[in-house]
Amino acid sequence: MKPLRTAILGCGSIAKRHADILATLDDVRLVGYCDQNVAAAQEFAKRYAPGKVYEHWEPMFAELDLDLVYICLPPFAHADEVAHACRHGVHIFIEKPIALTSELARGMARDVSRSGVKCQVGFMYRFGEAALWLKERIGDPTGARAFMVARYSCNSLHSSWWRDRARSGGQLVEQAIHLLDLARFFLGEPEAVYSSQQNLFHAEVEGYTVEDASATVIRFPSTSLAVVAATNGAIPGRWDCDWRIVLPGLTADFADPNHATIHSTASAWPSVTTLASEKNMYRALTLDLLEAIRQDRPPAVPIEEGVRSLELALAATLSAQQQTEVRTGAPVAG
Ligand SMILES: NC(=O)c1ccc[n+]([C@@H]2O[C@H](COP(=O)([O-])OP(=O)(O)OC[C@H]3O[C@@H](n4cnc5c(N)ncnc54)[C@H](O)[C@@H]3O)[C@@H](O)[C@H]2O)c1
Repeated sequence: MKPLRTAILGCGSIAKRHADILATLDDVRLVGYCDQNVAAAQEFAKRYAPGKVYEHWEPMFAELDLDLVYICLPPFAHADEVAHACRHGVHIFIEKPIALTSELARGMARDVSRSGVKCQVGFMYRFGEAALWLKERIGDPTGARAFMVARYSCNSLHSSWWRDRARSGGQLVEQAIHLLDLARFFLGEPEAVYSSQQNLFHAEVEGYTVEDASATVIRFPSTSLAVVAATNGAIPGRWDCDWRIVLPGLTADFADPNHATIHSTASAWPSVTTLASEKNMYRALTLDLLEAIRQDRPPAVPIEEGVRSLELALAATLSAQQQTEVRTGAPVAG
């Protein structure tokens, strides 16, 4: 089979992680790199495989006869790159959050659907072995009674765009969106969200306009509930993300998507099962997309999932601004 002619758009830190994997796959040939910082794209061409370097994506899509593009742009930089990929029949991997507005995200999903290209969104936590075990156990979450408590904690100034709400959307939209996505994955489509967000630890840092502490409550039509707490004021050098899911007869404590302790609580003799895996979830995301392309089936995390999880994060942020619960499931006005 001919390797897929693949380009990387946005040659920054997450792109390196994907390129490290892509460069090892026989099924993929890296042929192009695009970054507004041309030196970053040149560095990728030197490090991974020789390929053409571009400052703008439009000529790249027009010239390279691509099969696949990895879109690793920061949230604010998304514009018409998905439209261009679709016009040229190029399959897509796109990092979360896929955009900063409902309007752009829904437009992307429309373009993908009309063109028929495959599009995978970078919610890799869904591929954790322990996460998949529980998902199979829950099955269709409609009607399930579940309670989820999730935490995301780090302590870093990150990059200048990350600290700027206008460019990143804030910690919940840019980072803890992984947990909002998992809440949807396990508990189904929410009906309302309430969030409170503060800048508790960085008020003195110039240009730091995102929240660094947030508490978000998500309600589901099944009466299930999820609580997501995120902070950027915790332990420097650590990115901690864990959660507990309580179901009738079962409590699952996740240390991360690959590691969980499952307490069976239904019988008179409660039992504990440990799940542990070293699965590379980024690799799993890519392998699933490549198989979806080859077998002409939907990828595991299609772009509509990127739209819905983004809209949940945007609704939470709107709720924090308005200090009121916000109904979910409709476009969120930007
Ligand atoms: N799934 C994950 O675990 C994960 C982890 C980290 C980051 N991300 C996501 O990946 C995205 C990128 O994050 P990052 O940390 O790699 O950012 P980054 O700042 O390290 O890299 C972004 C790159 O895009 C380039 N760029 C910006 N605007 C551009 C434009 N208009 N045209 C071409 N290039 C442009 C920048 O020059 C930079 O090289 C973000 O949405 C982030 O949320 C996902």
